[in-house]
Amino acid sequence: MIIGIPKEIKTLENRVAMTPGAVETLARRGHAVLVETGAGLGSGLTDEQYAAAGAKLVGAAEAWGADMVIKVKEPIACEYKYLRKGLLLFTYLHLAADRALTDALLASGVAGVAYETVQLRDGTLPLLVPMSEVAGRMAPQVGAHALEKSQGGRGVLLGGVPGVPQASVVVVGAGVVGSNAAKIAVGMGAQVTVLDVNHARLQYLDDIYQGRIVTSASNEANIRKAVTYADLVIGAVLIPGAKAPHLVTRDMLPTMKEGSVIVDVAVDQGGCVETIKATTHAAPTYVIDGVVHYGVANMPGAVPRTSTYALCNQTLPYALKLAANGLGALRLDPALAAGLNTVDGKLTYAGVAEAFGLELTPLAAVLA
Ligand SMILES: NC(=O)c1ccc[n+]([C@@H]2O[C@H](COP(=O)([O-])OP(=O)(O)OC[C@H]3O[C@@H](n4cnc5c(N)ncnc54)[C@H](O)[C@@H]3O)[C@@H](O)[C@H]2O)c1
Repeated sequence: MIIGIPKEIKTLENRVAMTPGAVETLARRGHAVLVETGAGLGSGLTDEQYAAAGAKLVGAAEAWGADMVIKVKEPIACEYKYLRKGLLLFTYLHLAADRALTDALLASGVAGVAYETVQLRDGTLPLLVPMSEVAGRMAPQVGAHALEKSQGGRGVLLGGVPGVPQASVVVVGAGVVGSNAAKIAVGMGAQVTVLDVNHARLQYLDDIYQGRIVTSASNEANIRKAVTYADLVIGAVLIPGAKAPHLVTRDMLPTMKEGSVIVDVAVDQGGCVETIKATTHAAPTYVIDGVVHYGVANMPGAVPRTSTYALCNQTLPYALKLAANGLGALRLDPALAAGLNTVDGKLTYAGVAEAFGLELTPLAAVLA
């Protein structure tokens, strides 16, 4: 198969879909890989590295002319011209939030396999996990920075020093983001409290941290109490397919310490903090009632060298199946089949059909 890796052109997007190592794996299996010139530079990967791995360096149009295009972000308007019937597009699509792209994919007949809907039998979303791991591990790091006096924070060091107590970190949600945030906060020496409604998650953390962190059932009373002693609150809640519930409410802010910090990682689903709004890496924080809010919706974008490898590690096995079998791979792997959102002008993902009131073609009908 001919595989295209275009350069990501969305604002401030520095990741690239495939590393030179992944390109080499594809090339060794007999696939021709077309990498757009400069595609890896934002992640510190040079054209020479791609060429040495067996890629042909090409312009955007040639990369998009491949049988399968592998990307990171969804196509933006100026890329719609490349969409065509017979093209297999493997990338994050997030169609339920993007009517224009949904229409463009349907009108063109592209087979769109979305990273975010590839789903294992146990319900986990393996191609979302790596970015949650990155964002979760970044949360205490950006929170610690925001706590510095010069950044508007209270001026406390997360780990304290001998003779001076450490800061208190409260993590709401103990899934992938929350447990990774807790791990790094513990590593930085903070006092860590984790809240979740899922008792199994709390049991797991309680078992592995052996008393080093406090676990707490997530309910209004416990959250209300925890935010009063927190120096840093990390929002990490997800209710799949729904907006995040507002668990830290506006009326709690005056009860928080002056200069304390909220990092709401769940901001991409509306946030679990009532007063959070999406911010950018260029201007990541703002203050309400003396509390510093951080709401960057694409946190992994700040660490593209890590994020590119983390994403590619997880996408490559699926990319190999698609490259070897084309759309036939969907019959071989139900997880990958769940990723199909559009094909031949048909919409095959229920969540997107519901979001826009469009006709749904059952996956089974397409696979048959
Ligand atoms: N900002 C970013 O750059 C970025 C990056 C990656 C992920 N995210 C977002 O972070 C959020 C968390 O993702 P995840 O991968 O950790 O999800 P996850 O499903 O692994 O974990 C979510 C956790 O929230 C818990 N939860 C649900 N309701 C709760 C409640 N009322 N109180 C406390 N906990 C509750 C669940 O039990 C679960 O353990 C998602 O919205 C995701 O999109 C944002």
